[in-house]
Amino acid sequence: MDSFLLLQHLSDGKFHSGSEIGRLFSVSRTAVWKALGKLEEFGVAVESHKGKGYRILGGLDLLDRSAILSSLSADVKARIAEFLVFPAVDSTNKLLMDSMARQGEYHLVTTEMQTAGRGRRGKVWVSPFAKNVYLSIGFELHGGPEALSGLSLVAGISVVRALGALGVEGAQLKWPNDIWVDGRKLAGILVELQGEATTSWQVVVGVGLNVKMSERDGEGIDQPWVALDELASLRRSDIVASMVESLVSIIEQFKRFGFSAFREEWERHDLICGNDVQVNEGEISGRAIGVDAVGALKIDTSSGCVVVNAGEVSVRPNVS
Ligand code: BTN
Repeated sequence: MDSFLLLQHLSDGKFHSGSEIGRLFSVSRTAVWKALGKLEEFGVAVESHKGKGYRILGGLDLLDRSAILSSLSADVKARIAEFLVFPAVDSTNKLLMDSMARQGEYHLVTTEMQTAGRGRRGKVWVSPFAKNVYLSIGFELHGGPEALSGLSLVAGISVVRALGALGVEGAQLKWPNDIWVDGRKLAGILVELQGEATTSWQVVVGVGLNVKMSERDGEGIDQPWVALDELASLRRSDIVASMVESLVSIIEQFKRFGFSAFREEWERHDLICGNDVQVNEGEISGRAIGVDAVGALKIDTSSGCVVVNAGEVSVRPNVS
């Protein structure tokens, strides 16, 4: 018996007896019992009560592919060649990177959980089942390396826009593309590429956004983090739909106008502008003063303005 179908059935948080489940899926009580045991693979705890049956306390907010698709605009929907929703994958970015020769404009993959979620700089992205959003979009960009300038910053803007459309204001961007709220990281973006620098690029933009992550799930995360449910009560499918809408629209704009069209919007949400920062643990120190026309970070240092194209930025604590 398919344990994910069983999870879907139990996702309402109500009690279901073994015999009811057995009847519904036309399997024996033993098969039900075995399938319940397998749910541990998803990290989901199933309660069992004598006489009442089985339930998932609090239920599960599972992704609903048709609800996501039906809330997209006609223009965005027409551009989507493929929209895959999985119970579990190793990494949505990896899945798209491994199948790059694709037809059509935009390929989207989302999942309930990732077993090997990829973060920036080789880190693991914590990806528990049915708690957060893990979404990747694959597409082609034409042109030389300049065609990519600022793309990851623009992806960050798309998340801020998607949140705004859901009524969540106040998200800020930490260069190059982290999304922070109230001093804690809410979402991260990983851009991966394949291609010939001279003609075209196969691009995958992956977004991970914490929605209902518990303290326990997030125990191993080495920086302050926040989950969206502290700010708003939203269904994961609505969040995914808003992100797909915003990502596809923004990439279309980016293809036509490049980063310069977004610079002002980026700077409106710039978390670190005006702060003393360090790049790559002290390689460069100075005051962050915004981004240039291609999205590089500008830092005012003791020896003048330095432009940083890539690196890890930390804000230096104020010494008072
Ligand atoms: C970061 O370190 O800030 C980037 C995190 C990116 C995580 C997302 S989740 C969906 C996609 N698939 C992955 O394996 N990683 C990205």
